[in-house]
Amino acid sequence: MKNKRKVGNTNIIWGSRFYSGSSHVMEQINSSIGVDMRLYAQDILGSKAHTNMLAACNIISEEDAIAICKGLDLIENEIEEGQFNFKSELEDIHMNIESRLLELIGEPAQKLHTARSRNDQVATDFKLWVRDAIDRLNQGIFDLQEILINQAEEHVSTVMPGFTHLQIAQPIVLGQHFLAYVEMFGRDRGRATDARKRLNECPLGAAALAGTSFCIDRKMVSRNLGFDRPAANSLDAVSDRDFALEYLAVGSILAMHLTRLAEEIIIWSSSQFNYIRISESFSTGSSIMPQKRNPDAAELVRGKAGRVFGALNTLLVSMKGLPLAYCKDMQEDKEPVFDAADTLELCLLVMGEMLKGATFNKDRMKADARLGFSVATDFADWLVTELDIPFRRAHHITGEAVKLAEKKGCGLDNLSLSELQSIEPGIDKRIYTVLSAEKSIENRISYGGTASKEVKKRLGEARKRYLLSVD
Ligand code: ARG
Repeated sequence: MKNKRKVGNTNIIWGSRFYSGSSHVMEQINSSIGVDMRLYAQDILGSKAHTNMLAACNIISEEDAIAICKGLDLIENEIEEGQFNFKSELEDIHMNIESRLLELIGEPAQKLHTARSRNDQVATDFKLWVRDAIDRLNQGIFDLQEILINQAEEHVSTVMPGFTHLQIAQPIVLGQHFLAYVEMFGRDRGRATDARKRLNECPLGAAALAGTSFCIDRKMVSRNLGFDRPAANSLDAVSDRDFALEYLAVGSILAMHLTRLAEEIIIWSSSQFNYIRISESFSTGSSIMPQKRNPDAAELVRGKAGRVFGALNTLLVSMKGLPLAYCKDMQEDKEPVFDAADTLELCLLVMGEMLKGATFNKDRMKADARLGFSVATDFADWLVTELDIPFRRAHHITGEAVKLAEKKGCGLDNLSLSELQSIEPGIDKRIYTVLSAEKSIENRISYGGTASKEVKKRLGEARKRYLLSVD
C-alpha cells in the first residue's frame, strides 16, 4: 500500500502544473525536512531580510511585510517550543515554514516568495548556518588552545624524551610539546577565518539562477544578513557549495590534528609508557578484565575523524561534475556538514576536558629522557664547539662512543674519561657537563627551541597571539 502512487493529490508547492501527486517513494527520496529542519532560524532570518527589502523597494506593502515578519516570529517560537508540525510532504524547511505562514497570516504569505527561489534561499540559509558553524569551531579551537597553553605553562620544566619515528631522539620539555599543538590549532583557526571571509557573499536575490525582473536591492539584504557583499554572479550564487567544502576541509585538517594528539594520549597512557593518567571520568573499564582502564575518549576522538574526512569526500563526490546551476544532488550537501560540525565540536570539547583532568608521571618521563642515548647530539655539539671538530666527524666520533656504551649496556655519561679518550684523545672531563637531559634542554636556546627559558617566551607570545581575541 505504502508505495502506491497517490493520484489526484497534487503537490502544494508546484501544484497546478501537475495532474497527480508524488509516489510515496518519490516523497521519501525528495524530502529533506528531517535534515534541513536545522536551518529554521537561518531560513526565518533570511526571509525577514528579504521581506524588509521587498517593502523598502515598494514591491510589497509595509503592512504585508509587518504581517509576514510577525508570522515568521510566531513560527520560530513554535519550532523552538517543539510545537511545529513538520510535514514530509512539504519537502523541506523552506516549504514547511512558508506553508505554516499561509495558515497563520493568510494572503500576505503568498507574497514572501516574490523575487526569490528556493535555490538562492537554500544557498543563503546554508551559508548562514556554516558561517555560525565556523564561528563555533573557532571558539572551540580557542578553548582547546587555552587549555593547552595553561598545561604548557605548568610544564615548562617537565623533562621528557622527544621522539622521531617514535624512537627517543632528544630530551625536551612537555610544555614545548603542548605548544606544538597550539601552533597546529592556530593554523586551523587561520584556515577557518580565511574560509569565513570567502564565504561571506550573499546569494539571495539570484533567484532560480538568472536573477529577477523585480527591482530588488541585493546590497541591502546582504548588509542586513551580515554579508560583505552580494554574490556577483547569479548562476554561481545558487550553485556554489565551496563554502561547505572549505568548512569540511578545514575541519578535516583539524580532525587530523586531533587524532595526533589523541594517539599520543593513547600511547602515553599505556603501561609501557605510563606518562599520562587520564581521569576516571574520561576512561572506561572492561567488562571482562577487571584491571583495565581504557582511554576510550581519546580513541573516539581518533576514530571520529573518519566521519569528518568521510563528510568531505561525500560532498566532493556529490558536487563533482554537476552542471550549472542548481541540481537536486545539492540537497545532499547538508547532512555531511551537520554531522561533521557536531563531531568536531564534540571532539574539541572532549579533548579539552580530558587534558584538563590529566596528570603526568614526571619521574617516568624524566627517566626515559635519558634513554636511547638522547644526549648524543649534545656530545657531538660539544666536540664541535670545544675541540673545533667539523660536525660530520664529530657525528662519527659520537657514533663510536654510542657503540661502546651500547656494548657495555650503559649511558654515554657512564663511560669513563679514558674510554672516551680512546675514541677521541682531545676529550676532557668538561664533556660530562653536557651529558644530562636537563643540560641538553637548557642549551637548546635557539628561537622556538626547547630550553625552558625559550619555551616561556614563546608561551607568552602564544597567549597574546591566540588568546587575546577569537578572530
Ligand atoms: N530542499 C532543497 C535543497 O536543499 C531546496 C532547493 C530546492 N530547489 C529546487 N529547485 N527544487 O537543495
